[in-house]
Amino acid sequence: MRKQKKVKDSYVIMTELVLPNDTNTLNNLMGGRMMHWMDIVSAISAQKFSNRIVVTASVDNVSFSETIRLGNVVTLEAKVTRAFNSSMEVHIEVYAEDIPSGKKFLSNQAFFTFVAVDQLGNPIDVPEAIPESEEELKHFDGALRRRQLRLVLAGRMKPSDAVELKSIFDIKED
Ligand SMILES: CC(C)(COP(=O)(O)OP(=O)(O)OC[C@H]1O[C@@H](n2cnc3c(N)ncnc32)[C@H](O)[C@@H]1OP(=O)(O)O)[C@@H](O)C(=O)NCCC(=O)NCCS
Repeated sequence: MRKQKKVKDSYVIMTELVLPNDTNTLNNLMGGRMMHWMDIVSAISAQKFSNRIVVTASVDNVSFSETIRLGNVVTLEAKVTRAFNSSMEVHIEVYAEDIPSGKKFLSNQAFFTFVAVDQLGNPIDVPEAIPESEEELKHFDGALRRRQLRLVLAGRMKPSDAVELKSIFDIKED
């Protein structure tokens, strides 16, 4: 029987201070540095969940709505939403905080996908993820739809096989 693991056991929190080397010439945090941190925190979460080495397979849409400034404290939280065979979807939330003013805001959210690999780099099965809280259940339910969308966009799944997307795009059967 496939091993089971609670979603909450994959929870990782990482805190960074925005230093001059992280910013552009406007003293704002560079998007690439943010994505680097997101990649690290979510990879640790996937590794913790699977007890395996993981590689990043895909990164869903990352948008930057509010500026994060030099001196801000950035907190990244990551949790596996659902595991498939060898792949796991991880949800990341990024918060920025200006300590002197006490202002804290949610800056980004994203879903990254990781694949657990063996010593030769071949995909290897991971435990089944068990969601418990309301938010974990919501993310778990949406994960299959997001998986099919990203696999279709990556050219790894035929749109006609993406059964979860049929209702969204009103895809007609042949
Ligand atoms: C990701 C990787 C291991 C997949 O290997 P592969 O031989 O194509 O394996 P498969 O086709 O059997 O797919 C394995 C899993 O990857 C998933 N996958 C592959 N490409 C994907 C993509 N673009 N998006 C999401 N998932 C993807 C598959 O859905 C499958 O998941 P499942 O086992 O849960 O069903 C391989 O493409 C790889 O090593 N890529 C480079 C990773 C890398 O270097 N990342 C950056 C640095 S860490």
